[in-house]
Amino acid sequence: MSRASQDRHHAWRTPVFASTGLDGTVKARTVVLRTVDREANLLKIYTDSRSSKAEEITKQQNAMFVFWSKKLNWQLRVRVSVNISSISSHAQTLWQQVKQTTSASDYTGTSAPGTPISSPAQIAQNNDLHATHFAVITAEVMDMDWLELASSGHRRAKISLDSWIWLTP
Ligand SMILES: Cc1cc2nc3c(=O)[nH]c(=O)nc-3n(C[C@H](O)[C@H](O)[C@H](O)COP(=O)(O)O)c2cc1C
Repeated sequence: MSRASQDRHHAWRTPVFASTGLDGTVKARTVVLRTVDREANLLKIYTDSRSSKAEEITKQQNAMFVFWSKKLNWQLRVRVSVNISSISSHAQTLWQQVKQTTSASDYTGTSAPGTPISSPAQIAQNNDLHATHFAVITAEVMDMDWLELASSGHRRAKISLDSWIWLTP
């Protein structure tokens, strides 16, 4: 995962992030894995603080990342506890870096993600980098379910912070 956060071509760079909707239904979407802190067992992703997921995860912190690599034939399901911040000094520091990149506009749109519009052409450009809705989702890893597919036999293991066990695939 550390490698994936540095390498934009790594299959694990874009996991599916699943959470619980405000109505209790399942929500899932692709995200970019930005940072892996191995010492603290943290994964970080960036989002717009007005997106649906932002409100959802303040109500329900239990979430999951699902990674799949065709090259490795590995699936990794990572159970996490999440929180979101747009005002922390850490988030502000990251924004100072992100705002100098082309993805800055992902966080400065005039209307919130998911707002109905009459046509894609209606999306207003906003070059005001002070009007940011940049937020960092920090996910603390609880445990992982690793699955390897192989013609010689599949293998599966539950990996906790200080132990792991084999499971029937
Ligand atoms: C390859 C790819 C990467 C994406 N990365 C992110 C991301 O890092 N953060 C994010 O908020 N949305 C990202 N998205 C968009 C989300 O999948 C989703 O459409 C959007 O965040 C709205 O989700 P929500 O309504 O559940 O909050 C990405 C989409 C794709 C296809």
